[in-house]
Amino acid sequence: MQLQSLEADVLDQVAAASDEAALEAVRVATLGKKGSISERMKSLGAMGPEERREAGAALNLLKDKVAEALAARKMALQEAALEARLLTEKIDVTLPVRPQGQGTIHPVSQVWEEVVQIFGDLGFAVAEGPHIEDDFNNFTALNIPPEHPARQEHDTFYFNEKPDGSRMLLRTHTSPVQIRTMLASKPPIRIIAPGRTYRCDSDMTHTPMFNQIEGLVIDEITHLGHLKWVLAEFCKAFFEVDDVKMRFRASHFPFTEPSMEVDINYTREGGRLVIGQGDSWLEILGSGMVHPNVIRSGGIDPGKYQGFAFGMGLDRIAMLKYGIPDLRAFFEADLRWLRHYGFRALQVPTLAGGLT
Ligand code: DAH
Repeated sequence: MQLQSLEADVLDQVAAASDEAALEAVRVATLGKKGSISERMKSLGAMGPEERREAGAALNLLKDKVAEALAARKMALQEAALEARLLTEKIDVTLPVRPQGQGTIHPVSQVWEEVVQIFGDLGFAVAEGPHIEDDFNNFTALNIPPEHPARQEHDTFYFNEKPDGSRMLLRTHTSPVQIRTMLASKPPIRIIAPGRTYRCDSDMTHTPMFNQIEGLVIDEITHLGHLKWVLAEFCKAFFEVDDVKMRFRASHFPFTEPSMEVDINYTREGGRLVIGQGDSWLEILGSGMVHPNVIRSGGIDPGKYQGFAFGMGLDRIAMLKYGIPDLRAFFEADLRWLRHYGFRALQVPTLAGGLT
């Protein structure tokens, strides 16, 4: 009877504790060294064996109940405290950008938007894939089998081995989005996939993280002429020139056959690059007709469908267009650099309104 009223009393106190300090005081007063329950435990020693067994069992039960109630109350108080904190730390992300603010739009974001605008106008949708990829999508399905030298050239960042021996990796190019898109949709397919890519490489022209844009078209009658036209339209729109000469050089990529690297003409005017004039050549992208093995890996019948693909360095074309000399500066988050090369936040590129 006495224990029952003690229990009710303690549980009331637990429920009434309004913060963690008050709750701790209840714990010390009951389960602490000199606490009410601990003191009763000590008195067991003076009892006879029968009495001790019964009283001991009842006390242990009470002790467990109180400990449980304390833990539950503690959790509830912590959750409430977090909830209250989250409410006070709320920020309104829909507030308008201050035009006179510190930051500007990063050239990569700007060029990303420009590219999406241009290809969107040509009927391309934007596709995405994860940065953490598996070997199948990044290599094997792209016709790069395990011993292929292209695997070494890619300087891949691998994750630790999984129990089954496989290793995830940071995608080394945006090409795995080709596979993901084919597996997830039916032709006709017309997509671009801008995104981050990773290679273990670092100097003036290479950073461990960089951006690429992939293009993929799969249809029944798509041919090289379409590829050339699309790339020519893109170059003229992107570099904002009426004409640009293009040179298609035979090359080799495992995922295309035939493969071509594309150069555009340029000249220098006082240290500045002028694209579309002169007779010097700049390489800007890799491309080709999608290899039948790749189409098959994408779950599509290469006997019925064919298409083209291309891949470009997004950072690289940003450097060319805006005359930015050092790739590494893109990722240094230097505000002075951003103010120099950045773009006004409210000036969104559109074909109608002008890209820049
Ligand atoms: N994935 C290649 C790279 O990272 C670029 C590339 C070349 C993509 C040719 C393509 C292509 O889709 O057809 O170097």
